[in-house]
Amino acid sequence: MRPTYFSAEQYLKQRRPIDPVRCFRSSAIERAVSWFQSHFSGQLIYAVKANMTPDVIQLIAQNGVRNFDVASLTEVDLIYHGVQGANLFYMNPVKSRAHIRSAYYDYGVRCFSIDHVDELEKILTVTEQAKDLTIFVRLHCDDSGSVLPLGKKYGAEGLQAIELLQLVRQKAERLGVTFHVGSQAMHAERYGEAIRYAGDLVRRAGVMAELLNVGGGFPIFYKEGDPADLSSYMLNIEQSLEALPMVQGGEVFAEPGRALVAEAESLIVRVDARRDNELFINDGGYGVLYDAANCDWVFPVRLIAHDTSGHDKKRSVTSELTGFQLWGPTCDAADHMKGPFFLPANVQEGDYLEIHKTGAYGGVMASGFNGFGCYEEIFLEDDVMASNFVPATESNNIIKFIS
Ligand SMILES: Cc1ncc(COP(=O)(O)O)c(C=O)c1O
Repeated sequence: MRPTYFSAEQYLKQRRPIDPVRCFRSSAIERAVSWFQSHFSGQLIYAVKANMTPDVIQLIAQNGVRNFDVASLTEVDLIYHGVQGANLFYMNPVKSRAHIRSAYYDYGVRCFSIDHVDELEKILTVTEQAKDLTIFVRLHCDDSGSVLPLGKKYGAEGLQAIELLQLVRQKAERLGVTFHVGSQAMHAERYGEAIRYAGDLVRRAGVMAELLNVGGGFPIFYKEGDPADLSSYMLNIEQSLEALPMVQGGEVFAEPGRALVAEAESLIVRVDARRDNELFINDGGYGVLYDAANCDWVFPVRLIAHDTSGHDKKRSVTSELTGFQLWGPTCDAADHMKGPFFLPANVQEGDYLEIHKTGAYGGVMASGFNGFGCYEEIFLEDDVMASNFVPATESNNIIKFIS
């Protein structure tokens, strides 16, 4: 059981951790899940790839999510053993025959996604022409404006998609359609456009679908100028649903990863050196801060404990803020987070920072490169900085932390 503290400040009054610290917040998971439950009329599928920490999975399940998008047999196994009665959606469009076989026969998975006739053939052969399959056809869609587009890799389009829809209609018990508008999708309209495109293909194929899965991609507010209003995304989806021909009683799903777990974690790091306006910290792009290095994301950050072990015992932290670049602990020059991260101008070695909203794709991307990648893990009870799910106030305002 991980220890619980009220806040990172309180924790640092008792400890001076050597390794970076992953701080989990159960309240953030509860709030994100309940926001989706009350703003989205369909069912939620949690995309496990975003954060597969068992405690996070448990909290998501305890808050009422029964459906899980899994991309590998390891994720299948994690959810199968971790969440009783979970519905598994194996939504990676390309899977090995061995994994399909094990998913179907050992774990009872019946729901798969495909974007090519070869994958359908693979699933039918491995399952000996099973009659109880739910197959989602993954369609290509416009993912422009998303920070992490996925369309180059996956998605059937045009005539090929139409033929695939017809074939799946004949072979599978239930036909679904799905797409992914790209992760951290900055334009709400992409969802409506994708639903209309799917509707057009389904109509031209002369079939009806039982299921629509609008995928993930829902963005999180990381910095000023980011889209914050998830309600407009929901509205766009709801207003477009009629464009897709579905059987009576058809089901609609959304498959968020990032938006459900980004706020579930923050990260405590220590400053190990300062060179002008560059700080060397003890985690980075090969760790939880993968997106800060690889996508230039400026996570909200604040200084939470300042070092007073030097000659200036009375040292205080200035209210004047300066923009800093960050370097991670590995020897690779790519381990660089250009920011700027705004922090008190006199930040120095020995100070600790709390970097917020690191719960999506941070922990899962962290590697042991250069011998790093060890974390302490704690739970915190205070609120996350600049939440997507509460209106901005003086104490919860991202602008305040970056200006
Ligand atoms: C099939 C599928 N569903 C859902 C997701 C989750 O996307 P996001 O974290 O942007 O919500 C992904 C992310 O890559 C995905 O590939």
